[in-house]
Amino acid sequence: MIDFNEPVGYPADAPASQELFDRAAAIVPGGVNSPVRAFRAVGGTPRFMVRGEGPWLFDADGRRYVDLVCSWGPLLLGHAHPEVVGAIQAAAARGTSFGTPTPGEVDLAEELISRTAAEQVRLVNSGTEATMSAIRLARGFTGRSKIVKFAGCYHGHVDALLAAAGSGVATLALPDSPGVTGAGASETIVLKYNDLDAVAQAFETHGEDIAAIITEAAAGNMGVVAPLPGYNAGLAEIAHRHGALLIMDEVMTGFRVSRSGWQGLDPVDADLWTFGKVMGGGLPAAAFGGRADVMSKLAPAGPVYQAGTLSGNPLACAAGLATLRLADDALYTKLDATAAAIGQLATKALAEAGVPHRLATAGSMFSIFFADAEVHDYDDARRQNTAAFRAFFHSMLSQGVYLPPSAFESWFVSGAIGDEALEHIAAALPGAARAAAAAES
Ligand SMILES: Cc1ncc(COP(=O)(O)O)c(C=O)c1O
Repeated sequence: MIDFNEPVGYPADAPASQELFDRAAAIVPGGVNSPVRAFRAVGGTPRFMVRGEGPWLFDADGRRYVDLVCSWGPLLLGHAHPEVVGAIQAAAARGTSFGTPTPGEVDLAEELISRTAAEQVRLVNSGTEATMSAIRLARGFTGRSKIVKFAGCYHGHVDALLAAAGSGVATLALPDSPGVTGAGASETIVLKYNDLDAVAQAFETHGEDIAAIITEAAAGNMGVVAPLPGYNAGLAEIAHRHGALLIMDEVMTGFRVSRSGWQGLDPVDADLWTFGKVMGGGLPAAAFGGRADVMSKLAPAGPVYQAGTLSGNPLACAAGLATLRLADDALYTKLDATAAAIGQLATKALAEAGVPHRLATAGSMFSIFFADAEVHDYDDARRQNTAAFRAFFHSMLSQGVYLPPSAFESWFVSGAIGDEALEHIAAALPGAARAAAAAES
């Protein structure tokens, strides 16, 4: 008998991916080079992708998916955009790395400065490097040691920031990480997100020792949780009143939610910002930047050391610059409209299937919490029904829609999503919503 609640599509197993995963698992811990890729939160075989084109991903079993992960944010223009590929090819033909300053670094730095409130920037290779360096700089500048971070915010796998770090860590249910020493974490004060009173209280007690507050400009690593109105501005006010710096982590939001990132939607008087993802156009590039008087404390201009063999790599700069040059107001309008359309379709399908949920948005970043109350912090986020998400995820996957394999991640859209991809998503959602409903009951 046909079960009409069971969405028809790709089989649950994926033999070619499974074979690759088995080979990988024998020699790479967990079979992956970044934990959330392993599908542990949703179960099943992680799909090994072999090609991307516009909004589509193609896996080793020859299946096609609409991509709503976009490499976890970087691919603002979709896969293999001809102008980005062309820029990388041209740069590669000129040489892959020189270990000297190059014109592309200046061009990319100027592009970042023109879009943001940062007065100076330093290019690095990953978001982790950017936040690690920003923290060292804040400590060096203020001569203080403590850092305030918020539960559920992820800033990369920096020792001092791997406390209540959301996303991959939440997915794997590791409250902290072995290998991070007590000393490494003891200078970190973890507070509830979106709770200014808690911040004010922490500063009453530790104000003289706090070098900086670091926060995601809008949280995307516990699912999407936007700052409440005035929250980021309140952080700036409290930090400055006590002589501390505010580090606004825009690794995820930067150049994604507007041409200048979250600061384009909610400008705040931060001292340092961190960037990554989109600014590398799919290659490893990241940056930190901010006030010139703070940044000038960095070596070789100042005493705070920071360096990198491949920092400002010519290929990464070319890819980032090509991406940003195409990221104009029209693209951001399209991204907003695409995200809103998918969010509405998902909400409608879930409502029709009677699944409690909340659509959470921060510009064009969004996620669905399988919960029946608003989500403002990490505790709220953890109250969601992850079993319902798992069923929803696998149904979408079997119907050719690739969602983040965790309930604690943002969904990302690209400018390459057109009518065909949207219709594909729309067709998949009702079945996935019914699968989520079945898992709920
Ligand atoms: C807000 C934020 N900061 C920092 C990072 C770390 O960046 P990377 O993975 O490039 O080290 C991430 C990664 O997802 C992030 O979302």
